[in-house]
Amino acid sequence: MTYKVLISDPLSEDGIKPLTQAENIEIVMQTDLTPEELEEKIVDFDALLVRSGTQVTRSVISKAKNLKIIGRAGVGVDNIDLDAATEHGVIVVNAPNGNTNSAAEHTMAMIMAISRNIPQAYHALKNHKWDRKKYVGVELRDKTLGVVGLGRIGAEVATRAKGQRMNVVAYDPFLTPEKAEKMGIGYGTFEEVISQADFITVHTPLLKETRHMVNAKAFQLMKNGVYIVNCARGGIIDEDALYDAIVSGKVAGAALDVFEEEPFVDHKLLELPEVVATPHLGASTIEAQEIVAVDVSHDVLRYLTGDTVKNP
Ligand code: NAD
Ligand code: MLT
Repeated sequence: MTYKVLISDPLSEDGIKPLTQAENIEIVMQTDLTPEELEEKIVDFDALLVRSGTQVTRSVISKAKNLKIIGRAGVGVDNIDLDAATEHGVIVVNAPNGNTNSAAEHTMAMIMAISRNIPQAYHALKNHKWDRKKYVGVELRDKTLGVVGLGRIGAEVATRAKGQRMNVVAYDPFLTPEKAEKMGIGYGTFEEVISQADFITVHTPLLKETRHMVNAKAFQLMKNGVYIVNCARGGIIDEDALYDAIVSGKVAGAALDVFEEEPFVDHKLLELPEVVATPHLGASTIEAQEIVAVDVSHDVLRYLTGDTVKNP
């Protein structure tokens, strides 16, 4: 029996070798499908592999008569309709560990970029402007980093921030005093954490409870001149409220890798000099992309050939 696997987002070629080298797997890689084309295409596939670009909607799942498994090469499964998948007996696996390090490193790069105005100064210099006064930054040492969501990536960011001699305080509903003590960090409620912090970085999934958790009310509680970082999911921060908070001077700078709607190219936030942005690059390293593709490929292969998934 041959199983058909559709790959609809760019995945590492080395990473998908477990599938390309398997005898009973036929792979179709098509990464430019419109939503309508995907609905037509998916009909006789046994498995679908995606990153965050493909929206695996109820409509897509209901058209996929042979679909058995959806593999998400990454962490967030918010681009997949999980209820619809469950109703249709389709299992969803992700690769939650493979990009933790890359996402944490990207977050630190963003924190350092906004604290020292590196992208803005680079842009000015490339435009032949030598302006040293305009780009005076702030040190990280002895500043407080508020981490909202202390899971895999949040914890790695906290550890790295301590290496920069920052004080770290975290809010996570599952954070215990014992874990905080072991990590050498403080903890508190969401309100306590955001009101103490000089830099705030969010690392939660996008859920009903976390959508717009950083909103106009939250900005009011923050210190004047706070810096905001989002390398988790667009939608955790209310973008309109962030815009107002930057324009009012409450927020000194924001570093954003993810957006409520992606691609994100024409938005008022991008017009603000205080905003540093990257196009969802947190997991975009050779290493992370290979690991997540290997992890989901192994799981998809195991499942299609009658074994159990590991979802590492
Ligand atoms: P994780 O599941 O390990 O951690 C998430 C943490 O958020 C958990 O500890 C959970 O308890 C906590 N949490 C849940 N609800 C919360 C709430 N209401 N308030 C505070 N904390 C809450 O996930 P992770 O692997 O650390 O990933 C974190 C986020 O980063 C996800 O949204 C993921 O999709 C995203 N991500 C983005 C990129 C990127 O390319 N930018 C790369 C990898 C992951
Ligand atoms: C993730 O949730 O893993 C990230 O969005 C990374 C990605 O797949 O681009």
